[in-house]
Amino acid sequence: MSSHPPTNDNAMAVRQRAEGLLRRMTPAEKVGQLTQYFYFGSVSDQESPDGSGPLPQPDVIEAALRRGEVGSLLFVTDPAETNRLQRIAMEETRLRIPLLFGFDVIHGYRTVFPVPIGMAASWDMQLIERVQSIAAREARAVGIHWVFAPMVDIARDPRWGRMIEGAGEDPYLGAAVAVAQVRGFQGDAVGQKERLISGPKHFAGYGASLGGRDYDEVNLSDYELWNVHFPPFEAAIKAGCGNVMSAYMDLNGVPATGNNWLFSQVLRKTWGFDGFVVSDANAVRDLVTHGFARDLSNAAVRALNAGVDMEMAIADPAFESLPSALESGQFSENDLNASVLRVLEAKVRMGLFENPYVDQSRAEEVLGDTRHRTESRIAAERSEVLLRNEQELLPLNVHEWSSIAVIGPLADSKRDTVGPWVFDFNQDETITVLDGLREKAGDRVTISYAPGIRRAHRAFPSMFDMFPGNIPDQQPDFDDDVEFQRAVKLAADADVAVIVLGEWQNMIGENASRSSLELPGRQLDLLKAVVGTGTPVVMLLMNGRPLDLRWASDHVGAILDIWYPGSMGGHAVANLLFGDVSPGGKLPFTWPRSVGHIPMIYSHTTSQQPEKQAHRYWDEESTPLYPFGHGLIYAGFEYSRLSLDRSSIRAGESLRVSVDVKNTGYREADEVAQLYIHQRYGASSRPVRELKGFQRISLSAGEVRTLGFTLGPDELRYWNAASKVWTIDATTFDVWVGGDSTALLSTSFEVADS
Ligand code: GLC
Repeated sequence: MSSHPPTNDNAMAVRQRAEGLLRRMTPAEKVGQLTQYFYFGSVSDQESPDGSGPLPQPDVIEAALRRGEVGSLLFVTDPAETNRLQRIAMEETRLRIPLLFGFDVIHGYRTVFPVPIGMAASWDMQLIERVQSIAAREARAVGIHWVFAPMVDIARDPRWGRMIEGAGEDPYLGAAVAVAQVRGFQGDAVGQKERLISGPKHFAGYGASLGGRDYDEVNLSDYELWNVHFPPFEAAIKAGCGNVMSAYMDLNGVPATGNNWLFSQVLRKTWGFDGFVVSDANAVRDLVTHGFARDLSNAAVRALNAGVDMEMAIADPAFESLPSALESGQFSENDLNASVLRVLEAKVRMGLFENPYVDQSRAEEVLGDTRHRTESRIAAERSEVLLRNEQELLPLNVHEWSSIAVIGPLADSKRDTVGPWVFDFNQDETITVLDGLREKAGDRVTISYAPGIRRAHRAFPSMFDMFPGNIPDQQPDFDDDVEFQRAVKLAADADVAVIVLGEWQNMIGENASRSSLELPGRQLDLLKAVVGTGTPVVMLLMNGRPLDLRWASDHVGAILDIWYPGSMGGHAVANLLFGDVSPGGKLPFTWPRSVGHIPMIYSHTTSQQPEKQAHRYWDEESTPLYPFGHGLIYAGFEYSRLSLDRSSIRAGESLRVSVDVKNTGYREADEVAQLYIHQRYGASSRPVRELKGFQRISLSAGEVRTLGFTLGPDELRYWNAASKVWTIDATTFDVWVGGDSTALLSTSFEVADS
């Protein structure tokens, strides 16, 4: 191997190096490069997270590694362990090909950021890119090369727990967030210093699982795939992501992981993706479970032929049977070689042949960088969404009030503050809501605390139970009635009550779907009792999906959605409640009134009798509790002078939109100006509104700023289900600009017949 890795822009040199190695490889070694194992090390004595049986023992994996039959490992995060395993690959195998280490760094590694749905609520792409670049820096410092993120699945059914991992319901916002994350993780291209390979997932359509039940089948029309679920993936690929992960479930009757149309036609032929594809965990073996593959050998062949390059295996990889399947001519060696080359090229680009090891001495220095925690606090401040603020209860009037009662076990739970998909975190460093309020209040305000209800409502075993701190204690000595009354009394005696409610972190995420959106356990009872004291109440919501807030939205003075705010969550919440910072977040999804209204989206078509849109149900208004893009601020914004530089264009041309935004409040604040369009007629019925532009801006009190947006082919086209091509109709478009999807300021323009 030469001493200087080829730079990213000379793809030929990268390919030549990989081909030189490929020529020397046996079929078993080739398949080895396509095999990735979970390596849990110390917790390997437990059951596999997917219930498929015992985890493979480390010595079994290391023996396979020495035979050259392992190309990648995941879940190794100790730099010393990474180096030990890498040394086996580099010194005890025939070809000395370095291992690729992958991990789920979804919202931070050592520094935990708000969960992805919360980051999306910031509508701040620069922030998201910065946050993921920090996550990449910390992960790379411990020897991780590849991240299974961003999760870009569009989710429109909040019963599906993995909504928390994505960017919500909208393809335009989802695509922007996908690009920001890929760029944050990778930089401009695969192989940059302190960056990772980014692997958007799960391709494709996973967020539309039947009934919101994780892993259940997905049936989506081409119209929905091309117009709603594909755009974030296409955007991630155009941003240069080095990897894509397959989805678990059946898509229109064909398992995504065995779906040649997805990987060969869409991903590679249509979008030109040249990175490598990895299956989700055991998803190749599961092609047998799906009733798709005859046996494991058939599963392996069909996954490879579909375009899946690497198998992520918890144990007993199906790919083990590929060498014999090759001999019996079940697939061509050219296809095998193409997959191996893509994996080798990723390793070449990452410079692993020249620098296979991680600098253990530097890891602690990077992880200890306090600038990362500052960014986490800023990210939490900018992601939180003020849903309701009656009589401007917020910011808290600490000049008049001298006592705050903090209620609810989530206020004092470090584990829940960091949220799911965090396997190991620094407890001492994690600032809960209670910590943050106590620190902020100092001796100015008395902070009292009572949980009121038990810490954890165990909905069902979580796939992460095998990691420390994930199995909530049952608090056998907790006296429910005494504690409940104590909390209510505390609220009654205080000037204001801050109650923290929501889902326990193991109630949401993977394998955590719910058939209801209600606040768990006795939380609503506690809320009603606290409100019943007459003390003004601020409700802080910890969640990753919309929950049933019908009672709260009528009776609670202020509601702030803080998501799972991450390591510095408590500081961010205190700054927002005390008014140092104004909330600026906006909802990345439509908030349904209850589970019975699902799916509820803003970008529906006019369809039939639109005048009755709000009354489709006999028993309840069929409108959102809070609209897509909603979020209040500690100020006011006024939109005016909406204008277009052209009133008519031809298909393929663009026009500029201009609008003035004024901060009519008394203080500086952020606003997310959102642009929506509607096509009045054409070859398809199109949504009543579609997000096609947004800008987050900071304005001082009284400041006016003119914003510009462009509307062109990318914004005006849609995939036409009848003609099966991207289409721009000759039509009239309405344009709205405002602070959420109900914006009223509007204008229109024509697309003339070409
Ligand atoms: C999980 C998830 C996937 C994750 C992978 C590795 O089952 O579906 O998102 O990246 O396994 O943990």
